Parts: sequence; C-alpha cells; structure tokens
Amino acid sequence: MQDIDVKSLETAFQDRIDQEIKIEPRDWMPEDYRKNLIRQISQHAHSEVVGMLPEKNWLTRAPTLKRKMALLAKIQDEGGHGLYLYSAAETLGVSREEMVRDLLSGKAKYASIFNYPALNWADMGVIGWLVDGAAIVNQVALQRTSYGPYSRAMIRICKEESFHQRQGYDICLQLARGSDEQKRMLQDAINRWWWPVLMMFGPHDSASAHSAQSMKWKIKRVSNDGLRQKFVDQTVPQLEFLKMTAPDPQLKWNEERGHYDFGEIDWDEFWNVVKGVGPCNKRRLAVRNKAHDDGAWVREAANAYAQKNN
Ligand code: 3HC
Repeated sequence: MQDIDVKSLETAFQDRIDQEIKIEPRDWMPEDYRKNLIRQISQHAHSEVVGMLPEKNWLTRAPTLKRKMALLAKIQDEGGHGLYLYSAAETLGVSREEMVRDLLSGKAKYASIFNYPALNWADMGVIGWLVDGAAIVNQVALQRTSYGPYSRAMIRICKEESFHQRQGYDICLQLARGSDEQKRMLQDAINRWWWPVLMMFGPHDSASAHSAQSMKWKIKRVSNDGLRQKFVDQTVPQLEFLKMTAPDPQLKWNEERGHYDFGEIDWDEFWNVVKGVGPCNKRRLAVRNKAHDDGAWVREAANAYAQKNN
C-alpha cells in the first residue's frame, strides 16, 4: 500500500479516536494498535482466570454456607470475565488456543497480584475488598476504552465487580468487629496485600512502556499513577472505618494536593513477581496446566460433537 494511503488511513483512524467513535473489529486499524490490544486484553483475560485460584483454595473452608455461596458466585463470575475478554481478543484475529498456550507455557503475563498466597479467611475479605477494589478503579476507566468489544466487555464486568468488592468488605467488617484474634488476622492480611495491590496499577507513568501510546489511542483513559492515586484516596477512609491501618508510615492526607501521600513501591519485588519469581508463580501455572490437561476430554468431546453436527 502506498505511504500516502497509510498516512491518510492513520490520520482518519486518529480522528475517529479523538471524536470518541469506537473502533470495531472490521474497521481499519494500525497493526500496532491491534497488537497492543491483543497484548493487554489477553493478559487481562489470563488475570481473571488465574485470579480464580487463590480463592478456589478457600471454598471448602468458608466459615458459613452463605460465605461459601458468595465466594463461589464470585469465582464463577471471574471465569466468565475471562471468557468475555478472550472473546474480545479473538475479534482482533488471535485464537483462543494461542492465548491459552501462551499462558500455560509461562510466556504470557497475568496480574502480579495473583502470585501471592491466600493464607487464611481474612485474605478472602481483603482480596475482595482491595484486589477487586483496585480492579474496579482500573476497569471503570476501561469502560471508555476506544476498542468497542473491550469497552462493552468492561461495562458488563464492572456490574459484577461491585458485588465482589462488597462481599469482600463485608467479610472484613465482620472480622473488624470480632475478637482480638480476628482483628489481628485482618490487620495481618491488610499488611500482606496492601503493597502488592498498589503494584496492580503497573509501573510509574515515567517507566511505563505502553502508556504514552495507549493514552493517545485511548486504549488507556487514565494513567497508571492516576488510577493508583484514585484507589488510595478512596480506600483510606474504608480502612479507617475498619479501624485498621496500612503498612505505610508515609500514608497521610495532603491538604494542598487534595490527595493522600504514600510511600514508594518496592519495584524490585514488582519486577521479580512479573518476571515469574514471585511466591506462587510456579504453583499457579502448575494448577492451570493440570486443569487444562484434565479438561482435554471435554474439549475433544465438544469438538467431536461440533464436527458431527456441522
Ligand atoms: N502485573 C503483571 N504485569 C504488569 C503489571 C502487573 N500488575 N503492570 C504492568 N505489567 C506489565 C505490562 O503488561 C507490560 O508488560 P508487556 O509489555 O510484556 O505487556 C509492562 O509491565 C509495562 O507496563 P505498562 O504500564 O507499560 O503496561 P500497560 O500500559 O499495559 O499497563 C496495566 C499495565 C495497567 C495492567 C494495563 O495493562 C491494564 O489496565 N490492563 C487491564 C486491566 C488488567 O489487566 N487488570 C489485571 C487485574 S484483573 C483482575 O484483577 C480481575 C479482578 O476480577 C480481580
């Protein structure tokens, strides 16, 4: 294709983005836009599916039938979120098999947060409250992403995420109003999850490989640091209501800024976990691989049925 043609296509494409017109699967798009979306949406889908694992381990140990039912519903939702997002990624020309293969081989990334262990029931509350709370901050902004199928998936997912966060905070509230031992258990869980949750928003904007282009293409609507700050600002009052503290002596309200100041993330820990040497990386992939192998017969049966009846 002539350079002039490509240039005019790129200009028309950016005009659509600037006018907030959603990009749909059949529209012309720069190859790098498509690749960036496949990267982000597939990693998002992997995160949803791997994110089911820490909570799955506590299903059989939920303290009441009600807590078990809420946790089971949440885990099922996460699996569904993964499927919406894999489907959105497939509209860009990548196959489900390819994405799943990249996850199972360890090639693909998923959210670092899911490589930390869930040690007791308080972790179920803190994961729902803080991890899903952070995901909501990120995903509410992503409802306005420029790619149509991703935006629509986010709108659907955000409706379910608010239940996830509420059930988590309700667990925390019960523990915060419980015995001294329950209060200690909750505070310990907050201490272990606080910093890994702040890492969910990615590196600082200045260290982000994709942010500048993703913001220009309106794939990303708010920057990593902007989302992180929004999350801290909305979470601290909830922490105070629980009469709990964050493991950050620098966390304090800055009247001038109108935001909370907070300490620096341990970026060595972040990149170690992203690169695969976190506390649970190997275990998460082993469980995913076993589930995939154990489910082979279902895929074979479904494919055989589809071939016979097509
Ligand atoms: N965990 C793992 N990798 C991360 C990461 C994290 N927390 N934050 C950043 N990275 C990776 C990026 O993927 C990128 O690597 P790549 O080039 O190999 O893809 C690299 O670090 C540089 O980071 P950037 O900030 O430049 O990357 P992005 O512009 O993609 O921003 C992001 C990172 C903010 C996570 C963005 O990808 C995003 O918004 N993704 C969609 C939301 C998402 O995936 N959330 C994950 C949690 S889902 C969840 O919590 C489910 C809920 O139901 C519990």
